[in-house]
Amino acid sequence: VMVEKQGFKHYMLKEIYEQPGVVRACLEAYFDTEWSAAKASSPTKIGLSDAVLDDLQQVQIIACGTSWHAGLVGKYLLEQLAGIPTSVHYASEYRYSASPLTKNTLTIGVTQSGETADTLAALAMEQERRSTLSSGFEARLLGITNRPESSLGHLVPNIIETHAGIEIGVAATKTFVAQVMAFYSLAIDLTYRRQARSSEALEQLLDGLRQLPAQIELILESQERYIEELAHDFAETQDFIFLGRGINFPIALEGALKLKEISYIHAEGYPAGEMKHGPIALLDAKVPVVTIAMPGTVFEKVLSNAQEARARDARLIGVTPMDEQEAADTFDTLIPVPHVDEILSPILTVIPLQLLAYHIAARRGLDVDQPRNLAKSVTVE
Ligand code: G6P
Repeated sequence: VMVEKQGFKHYMLKEIYEQPGVVRACLEAYFDTEWSAAKASSPTKIGLSDAVLDDLQQVQIIACGTSWHAGLVGKYLLEQLAGIPTSVHYASEYRYSASPLTKNTLTIGVTQSGETADTLAALAMEQERRSTLSSGFEARLLGITNRPESSLGHLVPNIIETHAGIEIGVAATKTFVAQVMAFYSLAIDLTYRRQARSSEALEQLLDGLRQLPAQIELILESQERYIEELAHDFAETQDFIFLGRGINFPIALEGALKLKEISYIHAEGYPAGEMKHGPIALLDAKVPVVTIAMPGTVFEKVLSNAQEARARDARLIGVTPMDEQEAADTFDTLIPVPHVDEILSPILTVIPLQLLAYHIAARRGLDVDQPRNLAKSVTVE
């Protein structure tokens, strides 16, 4: 398939800009657009049977790289919305030390390409283990992929397709956002089945999801120029720290991964509350700290963690809503994002971090779409 850059300097930037459309496509594919609390049917239409989703005791998620980060967001959603204990594993680790299996375990492999060797091997092992248990259990294996025709598609009995379109840039952007959307649909489906939230709460969540495409557009329109300017400040920077908590901890990891993949700058993503147990020793005026601070359960905590970094002279950059005075007072530099329910915020907070990584790398004249030593999909162990 020939995919053009359509006037963008790199595929990665084009793919960042495609994200509002990707979220719209996922909303259309996964959710009943007419749904309201008055309806007596599921708000989702992901088409997974009762044999896959009923009576779950636990979920385990297996993935690599950016897909593993999507899995961490998925864990937050499955636990906090649907109330199902969930574990997330690196496929390369899991395949040599699998967790004990119980009958009502749903195993989910997340792979954009559907071809990552470690993820496929871990899932094949899970399939094998299941076939030795009682019948009916084989159904509880699910793949989340952008390529349903891939090896993964042939391996597992159930697929949620991510509607991102083909992704060329080696550093994943739009496929990540689509994977997170798939987890919203799965978590909401399970929440509905288990009646873990009221219909009104689900309706509110769906309303929030529907706002996301326009909110991503707003970030792209209002922040890209600014982030491009900001990138000039980091011509000499050698280390970055990214902090987040709760549902935005995986976004801190993803922001750090994007930056190291394409700019070759050392970056660490950390849960903000853990900074005092190590990374704080690295901080000085030369190490920028990017903190994701969204109103919700951990907002005050994150701000006070950021203030600890300030005491070490670090430059503090905050991804935070425009109208939060305490955040504005805490950070030296603000990258504003719309006010949104915390549970929906990762889809928004990841966008400026993608743009920051992109512009820092592009400014250094690097091959953004084909970074050194990396492959789009790793088909060998
Ligand atoms: C490679 C790519 C990453 C990707 C990872 C997992 O390392 O460079 O961008 O996140 O593989 O790929 P998958 O296709 O399994 O999602």
